Amino acid sequence: MDAMEEGGGLVAVVLAAGRGTRMRSERVKVLHPVLGRTMVAWPVEAALEAGARRVAVVVGPDGQPVRDALEQALPGRAIQYSVQAEPRGTGDAVRAAEDATAGCTEVMILCGDTPALDADTLRGLLEAHRSNGAALTVLSFTLADPTGYGRIVRGADGAVQRIVEHRDASETERGIDEVNAGIYVVERGLLLDALSRIGSDNAQGEVYLTDVVELTSQAGHRVMAHRLGEPWRVSGINTRAQLAELEEAMLVDRRRRLMESGVTLQAPHSIRVEGPVEVGRDTVIGPGVQLLGSTRIGAHVRIEAGCVLRDVLIDDGAHLLPYVVAENAHVGPRATAGPFTHLRPGTVMGAAAKAGNFVEMKNTVLGEGTKVNHLSYLGDCAVGHGVNVGAGTITCNYDGVDKHRTIIEDEVFIGSDTQLVAPVRLGRRATVAAGTTVTRDVPEGALVLSRVAQTVHEGYDERHRRPREAAKRAKSRSDQG
Ligand code: UD1
Ligand code: CA
Repeated sequence: MDAMEEGGGLVAVVLAAGRGTRMRSERVKVLHPVLGRTMVAWPVEAALEAGARRVAVVVGPDGQPVRDALEQALPGRAIQYSVQAEPRGTGDAVRAAEDATAGCTEVMILCGDTPALDADTLRGLLEAHRSNGAALTVLSFTLADPTGYGRIVRGADGAVQRIVEHRDASETERGIDEVNAGIYVVERGLLLDALSRIGSDNAQGEVYLTDVVELTSQAGHRVMAHRLGEPWRVSGINTRAQLAELEEAMLVDRRRRLMESGVTLQAPHSIRVEGPVEVGRDTVIGPGVQLLGSTRIGAHVRIEAGCVLRDVLIDDGAHLLPYVVAENAHVGPRATAGPFTHLRPGTVMGAAAKAGNFVEMKNTVLGEGTKVNHLSYLGDCAVGHGVNVGAGTITCNYDGVDKHRTIIEDEVFIGSDTQLVAPVRLGRRATVAAGTTVTRDVPEGALVLSRVAQTVHEGYDERHRRPREAAKRAKSRSDQG
């Protein structure tokens, strides 16, 4: 039966039952974050994207945190869990997933600690496997120093005969520089048959998954190795140093793709791009910028040094000056923010709106061309178009129990140092005098002013200040003398 015609006879098994003691961590290895996301989520998602109908993750008896992390990272995806009671080797781990692979004809096997693995690499493996009509295909690569890896032993015809682990290899076999990446695709029937026959008679006393290769080949089936040009894609992580190194390799790849698609990166090595970020043409991204989550940026945008953006949408022609921090916000076309602006969740800046230094906004919508240029806090606020919000304007949106809304209609002018005690509404074209505390709604076109009346006392300097200064000088002279 053709797996493709069946509409997805492919299941993936992801091995994640090892502890990973070399991380020196209280957390299991595959739960360490890589580019902002739990390590094991990367290969799991790559397998789903490459066409696996579902993914069976093999965890140890203490695997609940792995389940929790995957449910959070990939909610609602087709992921099942199998428990391997004891870490008896990779072959035993795949055995534990037997039930989870039922009903599928092809099994793809991967490891949970290879976060750089992408769907394209897996598609390449599947394509090679299917076009060669192979029963089993293993992903391989070559290394100048293959120490520690299983070696690919090929026959005279180039077909793979077996994989020998480093510790079990002869001197000649150790000289082979083509190694096993630990990623395979195999017909399910043959896999189960081979797994039922392998033992643990080897240097580590483990059930080696790699023995499936020899058994399948000996039974006369076609076994291939698909050699990968980009070995870093399948690098496994064992230590924190390797994690940092691989993360940097993933970043180099992301930055290169962005530049190839027409984005200018200044000091690219300093720019961090996590998640599935999209950036339009002729956008310029400055040093030290972090693009996190599902941030999307339009064309002809400028993002200057040090901006940190998470799940932010930025429209064409917008300009972020240095050190804007934004989360779950939307910056409209040609709008500008910064330097030092904080756009918190639910903030929407309309076209050509402006937010300047030390302005914080939360759950606030600014209309077209509205300006909040200096030192202000707007929370739970709807602002119309053409509004001027003066320096030091504060919405008092929280009464200690509930949050309340402030509504500022079109073309309102707010003078400096104003408090708006919510809930409150400023009608269209209202003017708020500087220093006012607005506590009640203001009708359209009105002036609102709530200042203590100014008093003036003439001659104060002559009568009070100068005599006191003179007395002080006289006392200091007599103290010194
Ligand atoms: C394995 C391969 C080796 C290959 C290398 C690539 C075998 C016998 N050897 O060796 O040929 O070059 O990967 O990195 O397969 N795991 C379990 N349960 C277990 C043992 C392992 O779930 O009982 C998981 C680990 O969590 C890990 C993966 O399987 O994700 C690989 O195990 P690991 O011990 O790293 O295998 P290697 O010795 O590196
Ligand atoms: Ca390994």
